[in-house]
Amino acid sequence: MRQMLDLSRFQAKGRETCFHGRHIQPQIYSELNGSNWSLKDYQARGGYAALRKILGRDGGQGMTPEAVIADVKLSSLRGRGGAGFPTGLKWSFMPRQFPAQKYLVCNSDEGEPGTCKDRDILMYNPHAVIEGMTIAAYAMGITVGYNYIHGEIFEVYERFEAALQEARAAGFLGAHIMGSDTSFELHAHHGFGAYICGEETALLESLEGKKGQPRFKPPFPASFGLYGKPTTINNTETFAAVPWIIRNGGQAYLEVGKHNNGGTKIFSVVGDVNAPGNFEVPMGTPFSKLLELAGGVKGGVLKAVIPGGSSAPVLPAHIMRDITMDYDAIAKAGSMLGSGAVIVMNDTRCMVKSLLRLSYFYQHESCGQCTPCREGTGWLWRMVDRIEKGQGRMEDLELLNSVADNIQGRTICALGDAAAMPVRAMIKHFRNEFVHHIEHKTCMVPAYV
Ligand SMILES: Cc1cc2nc3c(=O)[nH]c(=O)nc-3n(C[C@H](O)[C@H](O)[C@H](O)COP(=O)(O)O)c2cc1C
Ligand code: SF4
Repeated sequence: MRQMLDLSRFQAKGRETCFHGRHIQPQIYSELNGSNWSLKDYQARGGYAALRKILGRDGGQGMTPEAVIADVKLSSLRGRGGAGFPTGLKWSFMPRQFPAQKYLVCNSDEGEPGTCKDRDILMYNPHAVIEGMTIAAYAMGITVGYNYIHGEIFEVYERFEAALQEARAAGFLGAHIMGSDTSFELHAHHGFGAYICGEETALLESLEGKKGQPRFKPPFPASFGLYGKPTTINNTETFAAVPWIIRNGGQAYLEVGKHNNGGTKIFSVVGDVNAPGNFEVPMGTPFSKLLELAGGVKGGVLKAVIPGGSSAPVLPAHIMRDITMDYDAIAKAGSMLGSGAVIVMNDTRCMVKSLLRLSYFYQHESCGQCTPCREGTGWLWRMVDRIEKGQGRMEDLELLNSVADNIQGRTICALGDAAAMPVRAMIKHFRNEFVHHIEHKTCMVPAYV
């Protein structure tokens, strides 16, 4: 293991949030209890059977790389990092025959406010990520990979390092995996808590030892990635889903979820609920069921939900009550499934104050490279602050929308969009609260009066 720095003052202690037993058909969190993370336990749960299967080490014929990619395409697995891009399709973009080094990168930066699913995967089922990455490496002809891990919860990084050592010692990683012609070296790398380093090209810059700032795209990482070489990046949960798909088949995975939204999804249900936590449920599960699993609304009645992490537009209760939790249904309702953090707000929440908190976050995390984002996120924050303090003008509402319009789609990376979208959604759905703050110089929500 690499020499560790003393990072204790940066550590945020996470609570285990996935041992409540209230999942539905779990695949990644199945049978976890907090202490059965090791290689021995993972194998007892069927771990590394998928890797054996593709390499023909289970008595079968093995699977060609093309067959692995075809099965992942069939599964309708969509990237769990935010955009929901089809994973099999992404893997098919990798130029397999490229005659030099190619890289595989796992994005475990997990900085989206509200999201806490990946840290539980890395902490309690790390071998699922290692096996998923090794299968991906085989499918794309890649021999070197990195897992970029959120640096503020250092024990997660240490746990992953320990799992890597086990996998190497058992011959599941390294040269000639299980005596085959396939080799894959995998390394862990910890970040230092900058939200922007979760953006895939900023992550690559950071991994190269540079300042974590996004690159212009194109070129995309598939052609110009880590050290300028072809690179595939996927989220932790995306890789962790792969062993189940290979073991059970892409069709079985698809059938667990719904058309175009295969498998299960882990939702971090946070905010005003009685029992917050990570819940793994089939794609397409009704929001009302998810809310029930999380113990229902705490301290009031449901007012609004941010359904996909802080970057996703807020949706009011009457829309959320009828929605199913999958990429297509949430997009149709005007928001995004994003990272799967479901931020529940009850009727004591002031939407102006909530937007103020979000706007503060984005102006703080802007990397400053492009003017619309660097300046615009600060303007948004200051204007919302003004309104919240009762110093706003009615024309500020149009000005807020106009600044958001001038950020969205005009920046190098999607942080700009993430800052702009919540502003527009809050004003669209809760305009009366903003107007009240401006006209009466106080809040209309009883708890905040
Ligand atoms: C500002 C910003 C932050 C992001 N943070 C993360 C993150 O913490 N984890 C993640 O997997 N993807 C994050 N993404 C998305 C990644 O850029 C990328 O799309 C993702 O890792 C691809 O993996 P997937 O195809 O498995 O979803 C972020 C994107 C942006 C614009
Ligand atoms: S949009 Fe914002 S975070 Fe992204 S590159 Fe531009 S300044 Fe940096």
